[in-house]
Amino acid sequence: MDFYDVISTRRSIRHYSDRPVPDASLDRIAQAVQLAPTACNRQPFRILAVRNPELRAAICRACPQRFLPEAPVILVALGDMKNAWRRVGDDHSIVEIDLGIVFEHAVLAATAEGLSTCWVCAYDRKRMDEALKLGEPWSALAVSPLGYASEPAAPIEHKPVPELFEIID
Ligand SMILES: Cc1cc2nc3c(=O)[nH]c(=O)nc-3n(C[C@H](O)[C@H](O)[C@H](O)COP(=O)(O)O)c2cc1C
Repeated sequence: MDFYDVISTRRSIRHYSDRPVPDASLDRIAQAVQLAPTACNRQPFRILAVRNPELRAAICRACPQRFLPEAPVILVALGDMKNAWRRVGDDHSIVEIDLGIVFEHAVLAATAEGLSTCWVCAYDRKRMDEALKLGEPWSALAVSPLGYASEPAAPIEHKPVPELFEIID
């Protein structure tokens, strides 16, 4: 799929079939994740592709979104909260920007594989970290179902381009 087709095909999908995700697709998604840029190349992340039924159930208990248990794989974006680059001046950790880029690489690669995803951040992070049995420095910054859509996403509206992107000569 052409890059711009990937961008326009990707939608947040909230209905999944139980069709398994091919290992070859997971391999290519992993390679797309590996190539993501991070500040100062610190690579302060790990992405989990959880197929294990017990761990998926624990994630779903910590994140009660109706569609999450439907997908055969749950992606989890773990941030290294201690070792991400910090902005000079205010010492602000850039970990959430790094993880946003990394996870979107996974999401777009999944789209190119004909798979669907939905970014999910609406959960109690402490509860999620406990469900995943994470210790410092790791924390779960986002999750997503990964699988084949059983229903398409409803149309949505985007703000007009001039409100979102401005060329300043
Ligand atoms: C950082 C982030 C967090 C999100 N969290 C949730 C969430 O917790 N639950 C959910 O159903 N969708 C979530 N979404 C999906 C957005 O609602 C969705 O991207 C937006 O409505 C645009 O729709 P589209 O992705 O189909 O283009 C999130 C998206 C982003 C980028």
